[in-house]
Amino acid sequence: MKKFLIAFLVFTAVLTGGSADEAAFSVITNNFGARNYAPGAIPKADLDKIVSAGARAPSAGNRQPWRFIVVSTSALVKKVFRDAPDGNAVVIVLARQTGRDAAFDCALATENIYLAAQALGYGSRIYVGPLNDINGGLRNELGISREFNAVAAVRVGRLPLGVDAASSASSREPESGLITYK
Ligand SMILES: Cc1cc2nc3c(=O)[nH]c(=O)nc-3n(C[C@H](O)[C@H](O)[C@H](O)COP(=O)(O)O)c2cc1C
Repeated sequence: MKKFLIAFLVFTAVLTGGSADEAAFSVITNNFGARNYAPGAIPKADLDKIVSAGARAPSAGNRQPWRFIVVSTSALVKKVFRDAPDGNAVVIVLARQTGRDAAFDCALATENIYLAAQALGYGSRIYVGPLNDINGGLRNELGISREFNAVAAVRVGRLPLGVDAASSASSREPESGLITYK
């Protein structure tokens, strides 16, 4: 009986591990930048998870040259994205201005945030378009110190029904021309 129980536990662990890996892989390969969003708030607990995925990114020398601003106040979100429906949030990624490799490190943090949002079932899209406004006119309101500059804004929101990678992702170049094996 004891042997059967151990075998059952190992079998379950392997099964669970396998499906978790596949789910993670699917989020990475099926990512897409959502253009349209449905209204509806994102619970604070989910925003916490999404931004903390950014703070878990690897960085050169583990210097972690970033800060994050989570904007969920509707009026302020609309100053970044005028067409944002209620409930959209924006995670702004700030890079330390003097940091070596800071832009590269912050790109990794940005990707983590973008993918974490999709792993939780939300739509997300990375933007550099609003950076002039964020680092300029909105800088004081967002409380960005002189040491840091925004390098990306990740919009997060609820997806309209039926919108997924199959219906929304842009095409990619054929991999045969991109990858060589030696
Ligand atoms: C660094 C970076 C900056 C981007 N900036 C913008 C932007 O300013 N405006 C925009 O509409 N999309 C922006 N995007 C989204 C890309 O256009 C999108 O990821 C790309 O076209 C792939 O399309 P897909 O997500 O539909 O597959 C940006 C993406 C990245 C990675």
